[in-house]
Amino acid sequence: MNILNGKVALVTGATSGIGKSIALLYAANGAKVMVSGRNEKSGQEVVREIQSKGGDAAFFKADVSDPEQCRALIQSVVSTFGRIDIACNNAGVSGGLSLVVDYEVASWKDVLDTNLNSVFYCMKYELDAMGKQNAPGVIINMSSVLGLTGEMGLSAYVASKHAIIGLTKSAALENATKGIRINTVCPAYIETPILDVLSSEQRKAIESLQPVMRIGKPEEVAELVLWLSSDKASFVTGSHYSVDGGYLAR
Ligand SMILES: NC(=O)c1ccc[n+]([C@@H]2O[C@H](COP(=O)([O-])OP(=O)(O)OC[C@H]3O[C@@H](n4cnc5c(N)ncnc54)[C@H](O)[C@@H]3O)[C@@H](O)[C@H]2O)c1
Repeated sequence: MNILNGKVALVTGATSGIGKSIALLYAANGAKVMVSGRNEKSGQEVVREIQSKGGDAAFFKADVSDPEQCRALIQSVVSTFGRIDIACNNAGVSGGLSLVVDYEVASWKDVLDTNLNSVFYCMKYELDAMGKQNAPGVIINMSSVLGLTGEMGLSAYVASKHAIIGLTKSAALENATKGIRINTVCPAYIETPILDVLSSEQRKAIESLQPVMRIGKPEEVAELVLWLSSDKASFVTGSHYSVDGGYLAR
């Protein structure tokens, strides 16, 4: 079942974790995929994995906290594959654990640049490219359950992920009649390198925060992103969807 046959998709932060799973699933469902990230070696490995399964992919190195690199990235998708139909703006960092009163201003700006400003930069150029194609487009922005609730010590992350939901709603309203759907996905804790900083006690505490009593898998997030990216979600725009093992139901 190739529900993305003929589509061209971009995934940022696709060299590991959730982004890598999304890139693999997009390709397995027929899309040509531009894998992007900062680590060329890991990115090329993802490309080779896609190609070894008969898929089509390329890598473009970009730091999404830089607007010029975002512009070049989207331009490279169009010059490599001829168009851009789907974009998943997934790259993000957690930032350090610190109370608001102690949060370093430079660290705050770094987290907001990487998690929030990057989504604005990417959408700005994605929407421009999609608008010129006179065809439907889809954008998925990666938020978090921490885009819907607070968490002590993670104020910059929480603020950036809340703001992504608002930014998504505004962009979706602006593009609803143009056939470009824009939604946000909000995972709870997922098994990826972003959790490497946790001690085994912290991991246990997190597992018990999720009613299913386990940490999620990146593939479980990718399945939701795939559906939202496909024509099966043709009436879905301007909204946010959690994939959270019941985290937000408590
Ligand atoms: N893992 C979780 O528990 C979890 C939960 C909710 C939301 N998320 C979100 O999912 C997304 C993916 O995270 P993940 O868990 O897969 O972690 P990850 O660390 O494996 O992936 C993040 C990716 O973003 C890339 N990245 C970071 N800064 C970048 C920059 N400036 N330019 C380009 N790429 C950059 C990293 O290199 C990495 O490939 C993030 O937005 C994260 O906030 C993760």
